[in-house]
Amino acid sequence: MLSLRGLEVRYGAHVALQGVDLDLAPGEVVAVLGANGAGKSSLLRALLGLAPARGSYRLDGEEVGPLMERGLTEALAARGLVLVPERGGVFRTLTVRENLLLGGFLRPDGRKERVQEALALFPPLAERLEQRVGTMSGGEQRMVALARALVQAPRYLLLDEPTLGLAPLFARRILESLEHFARKGVGVLLVEQNAHLALQVAQRGYVLERGRVVLEEGAQALLHHPWVQKAYLGV
Ligand SMILES: Nc1ncnc2c1ncn2[C@@H]1O[C@H](COP(=O)(O)OP(=O)(O)OP(=O)(O)O)[C@@H](O)[C@H]1O
Ligand SMILES: [Mg+2]
Repeated sequence: MLSLRGLEVRYGAHVALQGVDLDLAPGEVVAVLGANGAGKSSLLRALLGLAPARGSYRLDGEEVGPLMERGLTEALAARGLVLVPERGGVFRTLTVRENLLLGGFLRPDGRKERVQEALALFPPLAERLEQRVGTMSGGEQRMVALARALVQAPRYLLLDEPTLGLAPLFARRILESLEHFARKGVGVLLVEQNAHLALQVAQRGYVLERGRVVLEEGAQALLHHPWVQKAYLGV
């Protein structure tokens, strides 16, 4: 279980997040929704020790400590936290095969099996193992990023807008793959602006507005919540 209480992120005088309480359990998919600048990426970065954060952060019942402690990001990665940043999470100059093998660098045990599992989850990649990732389409690159994440054997997977700029069919395929992670017991935190798509795979969600959690509900309740409909579905 990953738990935040009273998380605050400040960039100089700018308060990007304030009083954020959030839980993520193994095997669940949780959406974080919010408009541009709401603080979604700051939240994910704080969870990896990559943003100037304060507050309580517990991982499997243990306080992670001052969130900006030196070496914290490496320690969190070693404990199974994997972040796929917006448009990132791949080595563009390397091939698909190289990207997948590097994904298993921290966890060599069972790496071969996880590469096979990733290729079964994203069959189009199996035909493109020698292609440089920088030459692939946006949707294919997102598949590589998620396949790499799978080879990393995450316990908690943090995704920053994995469907940004993708056509609906690709976006749906990417989000459906998250159910595979969840069935394996991975806790998935999914930052999305596309609330409608995200809430089809997430069990529950948080809505961030100007750095604060303004709504926390089950996916069905959120989908039909007037605030979400107005803000994100344009109805
Ligand atoms: N390194 C930084 N230095 C100063 N301000 C920052 C920094 N990173 C983010 N901010 C500010 O913090 C606020 C939250 O940014 P953040 O990137 O977390 O939002 P977001 O919800 O991910 O937005 P988007 O949907 O556009 O990706 C914004 O006002 C942003 O300008
Ligand atoms: Mg962002």
